[in-house]
Formats: sequence, C-alpha cells, structure tokens
Amino acid sequence: MERTFVMVKPDGVKAGLVGECIRRYEARGLALVDLRLDRLTAEIAQVHYGEHAGKPFFPGLVEHVTSGPVVLMVLEGEGAVAAARKTNGATNPLDAEPGSIRGDFALEITANVVHGSDSVTTAEREIGIFFPNLK
Ligand code: RTP
Ligand code: MG
Repeated sequence: MERTFVMVKPDGVKAGLVGECIRRYEARGLALVDLRLDRLTAEIAQVHYGEHAGKPFFPGLVEHVTSGPVVLMVLEGEGAVAAARKTNGATNPLDAEPGSIRGDFALEITANVVHGSDSVTTAEREIGIFFPNLK
C-alpha cells in the first residue's frame, strides 16, 4: 500500500486547521500510520526542503516552517501521494481550487497550510527523515 508524508505547517496549526486537514485525508480514505506534533530545527527544515536550496524563496520557507509547531504525519492508501496532493490543492493558493485545503484556507504561497510529498520516492525519503523508526 502506498504511503505519503504530510506536514501541517505553522500557519495551519496556528489557524486551528489540524483537525480539518486530518478529517479531509481520512474522509478521502487515507489512513493515519503515524502522527506527531513537533518543532522543526533549521537543520531538519533545510534537509527536508533540500531540493529547493539556493532558490529565492528558500530562506523564507525555512523561516516559516521553523516559526512554530508543525504536525507531521504518514498517510497510507491507494495512490496516497497523488490523493494527498489533490486534497492539498495547487502550491500557490491563488491557483488552488475551492474544495482543496489551500483553496479554502490560504492566500499566501509560503503560508499555504500543508506540505505533501511529490512522489513515492520523495515520500520514502521524507518519511525516513521524520519517522526513521516506522516499519
Ligand atoms: P509542497 O512541497 O509544499 O507540498 O508543495 P509543492 O510540491 O507543490 O511545492 P514545492 O515546489 O515543493 O515548494 C515547497 C514550498 O515552497 C514554497 N514555495 N514558494 N515563492 C515561490 O515561488 C515558492 N515556490 C514554492 C511553498 O510554500 C511550497 O509549498
Ligand atoms: Mg514539494
């Protein structure tokens, strides 16, 4: 069964959207495999977002995701990677459809409520970073 990694970013936690996000993933049929509230260090955030190092938005992204608590989770189900990303909506909330998390709850590209792995390979890497003991 496919797995993906999802993070509710600090803006989503501050806005009280953790339950809403989880409700949407679960209602879609994705099952929670693991879940944790945590604070990210800059080092971990830089590793997680390593593919974006050097891009203009990278420092602001790392600053944002380390600015407050985040909720980290592993979700499992048929097509979990694509399903979670559809539920999240387009990266820029201004392009995200109403009915998606970003389309319903965000306007800014950095503070866009959630992160979701972009492929099965990326999901395995990200799950390894945040849930290294998960079987
Ligand atoms: P995500 O990783 O957050 O699930 O979304 P994604 O694959 O669609 O977006 P990605 O390209 O991986 O970017 C990661 C996060 O960086 C911020 N970003 N800002 N200012 C910009 O042009 C820009 N581009 C990306 C967003 O917060 C995005 O979620
Ligand atoms: Mg991405």
